[in-house]
Amino acid sequence: MKTILIFVSSADGKVTKWGDSQVKLWSSHQDQDYYKKVWSESRLIVMGSNTFLADPQKPSPEHQLVIMTREPEKYNHLQTPGQIEFTNETPAQLVERFEKQRQELMLVVGGPHVATSFLKAKLINELWLTVEPKIFGEGDNFAEGEKLDIKLKLISFNKVNEEGTLINKYEVIKD
Ligand SMILES: NC(=O)c1ccc[n+]([C@@H]2O[C@H](COP(=O)([O-])OP(=O)(O)OC[C@H]3O[C@@H](n4cnc5c(N)ncnc54)[C@H](OP(=O)(O)O)[C@@H]3O)[C@@H](O)[C@H]2O)c1
Repeated sequence: MKTILIFVSSADGKVTKWGDSQVKLWSSHQDQDYYKKVWSESRLIVMGSNTFLADPQKPSPEHQLVIMTREPEKYNHLQTPGQIEFTNETPAQLVERFEKQRQELMLVVGGPHVATSFLKAKLINELWLTVEPKIFGEGDNFAEGEKLDIKLKLISFNKVNEEGTLINKYEVIKD
């Protein structure tokens, strides 16, 4: 199973503008269209509870959404079998479970806490990072609070508008 981490950031590496959870207020239309397409093509999508709460998703038979939380019982009313699931499994347990089910792809859509957990556990194969030509100065980085030393190799880059929004794809080099 391939595990892909996807984010949009500013040129100074912020995935929130000043800590505000509404990413669509500053990300380009081109990135939003691209993200929608990646989402629509992904069956298995993993996120943290804060990311879910920032943009709650409705159940859909097309997707299996897995939301990571230490308190899954808090969300019993939102669970929809096979479509929306809240779990307190670790990143390693999730990867093991879905590999056993022979899933081909797991899309990890953030946020920073969950991304950092997956990166620390060396469970990410590719990083798909859109860089918007903006500087925020303050905001969250997608990997933070841990000493990491992860090498990447650029797979592809694509300038998608006049301003220079770049959609980059990196492979994580396994050591
Ligand atoms: N720019 C982008 O591309 C992008 C993408 C995604 C999100 N964001 C932004 O990022 C912000 C949310 O990020 P966040 O870092 O605060 O939250 P997050 O990563 O979405 O969720 C973190 C929460 O997940 C739960 N959790 C359960 N198991 C975990 C584990 N193993 N590792 C980490 N967390 C685990 C914990 O909540 P419990 O209290 O429920 O246990 C934890 O507080 C929002 O503002 C969102 O808009 C930006």
